[in-house]
Amino acid sequence: MPQQIKTCKRKILDDDFFTMYKDVVRELHKYDLRGKKIICPCDNKNSNIYKYLKDCYYDVKCDDKEWRNINYKNYDLVITNPPFSQVREFIRHLVKCKIDFIIIVSDVLRYSISKEKVNFGVKLYKGWDAQKFYRPDGSIKAVHCGWISTIKDTWGENEILERGKNGLDS
Ligand SMILES: C[S@@+](CC[C@H](N)C(=O)[O-])C[C@H]1O[C@@H](n2cnc3c(N)ncnc32)[C@H](O)[C@@H]1O
Repeated sequence: MPQQIKTCKRKILDDDFFTMYKDVVRELHKYDLRGKKIICPCDNKNSNIYKYLKDCYYDVKCDDKEWRNINYKNYDLVITNPPFSQVREFIRHLVKCKIDFIIIVSDVLRYSISKEKVNFGVKLYKGWDAQKFYRPDGSIKAVHCGWISTIKDTWGENEILERGKNGLDS
């Protein structure tokens, strides 16, 4: 296989950037998630997103298998840091399944949404940045990312990133 193709393949599959607990707390504590059935489709029990939601006694399940095979009708909300290489497909899938989400995406994607270069057809809010992630070897890597959500935080801090289909602010 030519060197260039090998390099590309490695880059695409390098999705293992694990979220820090402090980045989860900083964003998720702004939401009252009581009574919501939450699924973390790209997380196992070691995920800090899952751990935080469990620590808060929320009704949460994690599933580190295949996000495409989950029946989202059984849940009210998706919270995760999805694989960067699949993020657009992931968002379009959630929108199609009509399920709300609070997820981490790259700053490049947040910028593209804000400049209307990418459109998911739903209202999206911009949350806190998340700039550092654990790697599988335990090291920490800086990647410019941040939270986006389809629901407004309880504190009303998050600003609108995409206005959605009808362009209304409500
Ligand atoms: C960016 S990492 C984040 C992991 C974890 N959610 C966190 O925040 O620490 C994305 C994770 O998605 C998992 N993943 C990759 N493809 C997946 C798929 N098709 N379905 C479910 N999970 C997947 C990978 O194992 C990877 O650990």
